[in-house]
Amino acid sequence: MIRTPLCELLGIEYPIVQGGMAWVGTAELVAAVSNAGGLGTAGGGNASPEEVAREVRLVRGLTDKPFGLNIPLAISEYADEIVGLCIEEGVEIVVIGAWRPGNHIARLKEAGITVMSVVSSVALAKRLERQGVDVLIAEGMESGGHIGDVATMPLIPQVVDAVGVPVVAAGGIADGRGLVAALALGAQGIQMGTRFICTTECTVHENYKQAIIKAKDRSTMTTGHSLGHPVRALRNPMVHEFEELERRGVTEQEIIEFGTGKLKLAAIGGDVINGSVMAGQIAGMVNDIVPVKELIERIVAEAEEIIGQLQGVVS
Ligand SMILES: Cc1cc2nc3c(=O)[nH]c(=O)nc-3n(C[C@H](O)[C@H](O)[C@H](O)COP(=O)(O)O)c2cc1C
Repeated sequence: MIRTPLCELLGIEYPIVQGGMAWVGTAELVAAVSNAGGLGTAGGGNASPEEVAREVRLVRGLTDKPFGLNIPLAISEYADEIVGLCIEEGVEIVVIGAWRPGNHIARLKEAGITVMSVVSSVALAKRLERQGVDVLIAEGMESGGHIGDVATMPLIPQVVDAVGVPVVAAGGIADGRGLVAALALGAQGIQMGTRFICTTECTVHENYKQAIIKAKDRSTMTTGHSLGHPVRALRNPMVHEFEELERRGVTEQEIIEFGTGKLKLAAIGGDVINGSVMAGQIAGMVNDIVPVKELIERIVAEAEEIIGQLQGVVS
């Protein structure tokens, strides 16, 4: 049985977190992960407080297990209201994605909420620990969605060495080998995004899932560097056009307008040509669509087997 202190802290059975994913990590997926013993996380994206409240209630209707709510503080225009809503609704775990958290962490902590934060550097990890974050999710640049510029392998041990709070490893993990590697690097658990998209309970459009299934190791690329917020997605005509706009040096406003709504177009509309199919480099290793419970149990069983085999390496 793979258990770490993170399991006690979050009230979960397995140290496996489903990362918040705007438009993709809907209530069905979140509840399925929590019901299977992991931690599901609802993706707030830039949704309004009313939409977020509805999502929280939907998840509550599907599970009585702990789950998290992801608030991208840096981009959400409703950050203040959503923090208030978490407090009113009694949300137990909030995952913030922020480089300027303001006084939000203090407000959440005063309300007794466990605060987790996604970080992509040692400096940010240290700053957020000082501000009272309970768990840091160190996310490498292999990840799908918005990324930093350090890869998972060097990032995890450096963050682990720099902070005292539990660290969860994210980026490029999809199976038991990844879980064992993350634990070996000093993390107390893993967060996956891309792998959880290809599950029965994920409500994303079937075309999105099939695009990930077809992907190979080099199928993703990054855009948005000119905006300072790079994003990793599967290569398709949309990202090539995005790249071309950046190369031509069009205005920031034009690039933002071009990119707006593209994830929704792929995730809900199923347009994987003109939409943004955000996914990580691990997409090349995702080859099936399985129920969440089966996936989590498979990862844990595989990790236990590997740990057993590794004993034999030591003579
Ligand atoms: C489609 C998609 C949407 C995402 N949206 C968010 C988001 O809204 N907030 C966030 O903090 N992370 C977001 N992420 C990152 C994931 O939560 C997770 O950390 C990441 O996918 C882990 O790397 P992996 O894709 O290699 O598993 C997103 C990732 C994907 C693939």
